[in-house]
Parts: sequence; C-alpha cells; structure tokens
Amino acid sequence: MTAAAESSGHPPERPGVSSGPAAADEPVLAVRALWKVFGPHPARVLDDPVLCALDRRELMRRRGNTIAVRDVSFEVAPGEVFVVMGLSGSGKSTLVRCLTRLVEPTAGELTFEGEDLLTASRQHLRELRRHKFSMVFQHFGLLPHRRVIDNVGYGLEVRGTPRADRLRRAAEVVELVGLGGYEHAFPEELSGGMKQRVGLARALAGEPDVLFFDEPFSALDPLIRREMQDEVARLHRELGTTMVFVTHDLSEALRLGDRILIMRNGEVAQVGTGDELVGAPADDYVRDFVRDVPRGDVLTLRWLARPPRPDEPLDGPLRGPRRRVLVPDRRGVRPAAAAGPTSAG
Ligand SMILES: Nc1ncnc2c1ncn2[C@@H]1O[C@H](COP(=O)(O)OP(=O)(O)O)[C@@H](O)[C@H]1O
Ligand SMILES: [Mg+2]
Repeated sequence: MTAAAESSGHPPERPGVSSGPAAADEPVLAVRALWKVFGPHPARVLDDPVLCALDRRELMRRRGNTIAVRDVSFEVAPGEVFVVMGLSGSGKSTLVRCLTRLVEPTAGELTFEGEDLLTASRQHLRELRRHKFSMVFQHFGLLPHRRVIDNVGYGLEVRGTPRADRLRRAAEVVELVGLGGYEHAFPEELSGGMKQRVGLARALAGEPDVLFFDEPFSALDPLIRREMQDEVARLHRELGTTMVFVTHDLSEALRLGDRILIMRNGEVAQVGTGDELVGAPADDYVRDFVRDVPRGDVLTLRWLARPPRPDEPLDGPLRGPRRRVLVPDRRGVRPAAAAGPTSAG
C-alpha cells in the first residue's frame, strides 16, 4: 500500500470508496481529507500533531517539510466550473496536481467518476491523463518547432490517433478557439493570448472529461486576460466540460466559478458560490479577500458572464443587501445564504 492510501487520522465522512460505474449525479471528482507534505519522511509529519501544528517556517526549519495541502475536502459536480483561489504559495498548484497524481498525495481519498484514483496503477493513470484529463498551464507549454495544427494535435498523436483524424479534429478545435487561419503558424509568430488559445485548443482536442487550468492567464495583459476569460466561459457554455480552474485573482474567480474554494496556507478557508463568499464570508480572512467586491456586482457579473441555464429564473439577479437571492444550483434553484450584517460594498 502506498503512502497515499494511508489514513490521515481523519475518518472519512462516507464509508469505503467505490470503484463501480459512475452514477448520474455522482461527483466527477471527490476529494476527502487530502494532505500533501513535501520534504523528508512526510508520513512522520502527519503522525505527529505537534509537527502538524507548527507554522510553515518552523516546520521547514525543524524538519525541512512543507504541508502544502492540509486536510482538504471538496467535490466537483459534472459540468461545474470549480475554482481554486488563494495567494501565491497557498497550495493551489499542489492541490490540482494531486487531483491527477502528477503530485502524489501523502494521505486522503480521491475519486474520479467514482473510481479510486489513489490505488490506480501507473499504466491506468497514464490512460486517464491521455483520455480523460487535460491541463492548461500558465506558460503555454507549446512545442516551438511545431506548427499550431501539430501542437493542437499532439495529445491525439500520443494517443495513437491516425494522422488524418488527428488533423481533422485539430482543425476543428483551432476553429473553435478562434484561431482559424493560423493552423500553419509557429508559436513564436503568435501573441501571448493566441498562444494560450493554442493551449486551450490542445487541451480540448481530446475531448477530456475534466479540464484543469493552473493560472493560465496570469502572464497576459488585463484586456487579453478578460478576453480569454470570456472565451473559457463561452467554451464552457458550448461544451459543458467540467473544469477545475486555479487563479489568484478574485475577479477571475468570480467571473468563471460556479463555486470557489479559497485556500489559505494549504487549508480550505471556504467553499461556496461567489454570492456566498461575498455575502457570508466564513472568517476574517475571506472577508478581507472579498471586502472590495460590492455584492450586487457579483450577481451582475455572474449574470453577464453566463446566459441562464434552463432551470434558472429569467428575471435577473435581485439586488440589494438584505434580500434573499435565488442562485442557480445544479440541483435546481435554491435560496442563497441570506446576506449577513457585514458591510461588504
Ligand atoms: N516540489 C516541491 N517541493 C517542496 N516544496 C514545494 C514543492 N512544490 C511546492 N512546494 C511548496 O508548497 C507550498 C505550496 O506551493 P504551490 O502549490 O505551488 O502554491 P500556489 O500554487 O498556491 O502558489 C509552497 O510553500 C511551496 O514552496
Ligand atoms: Mg501555483
């Protein structure tokens, strides 16, 4: 048994992890009490409450360890855009990498479509990464000596898709991300925004079940960044792909996220819709994060960024600090957490 499968000392809230076929309303990803400790003898750190309680610098000084992810639990629903937000160093990249085991979790549970990922073999993981998951990175990761069309088709090539099918599919997604006409350009001939469109197209080419984004737009100018956010929102509307999106930018999180997980020092500070985070921050940390966002604006942004889904009320967001607001939820429409007495905005 791997270290990853060891108990975290925090009993799971649900009994055993099933590996049966995915049920319709089953989360795409389910994370329970996940930990990642970097440095020597990570399991020893977990087993010692004194070490776990040390602050970062002290744990590094005494043992050379960093607890990058600390007892994190959440679920991602089918078709959801789930945003992970936090300051630099809060553990966002480590957490998303744990979800595909690019980084090996130290403890906890992790399922993908009901299947236990922590006991999956190397071979099976490789298959999942080729067929079910795609990742978009901040620094594009394009192959400089390949033209756009061959960068986009790269994942399909690795899968062994025949050349003609590959080119047809690549041309389709190049068009989809608005790069029609640039099929034969080399990456160095493209602007930053266009390169990231290639990154997006490459990630979409294999029709993944889950798209992971790790601060994909952080290196782009604000205007281009907005444009790319709109692009992701549009692609999500058209394709409905489940997305896990990492950002350190609150406005990006609010524009894109169905729900947002705010990380602080590896821990979950709060998980909720933008409205919930702004209307009812769980603690002073989250309150500080969202203090400059007027509540009405969050609702308006959500409304603008995304046309209504079939089960949503069509009379627009109700604004005002004390009214209960209907927020779309995948299981239907439910009242949002009532706005608290705080004076955000
Ligand atoms: N491979 C690694 N080895 C050791 N420490 C790491 C490694 N990767 C990340 N860390 C540490 O884990 C913490 C979280 O890092 P990271 O997940 O990159 O945060 P974020 O993506 O939110 O900026 C940081 O303190 C970082 O230095
Ligand atoms: Mg990061």
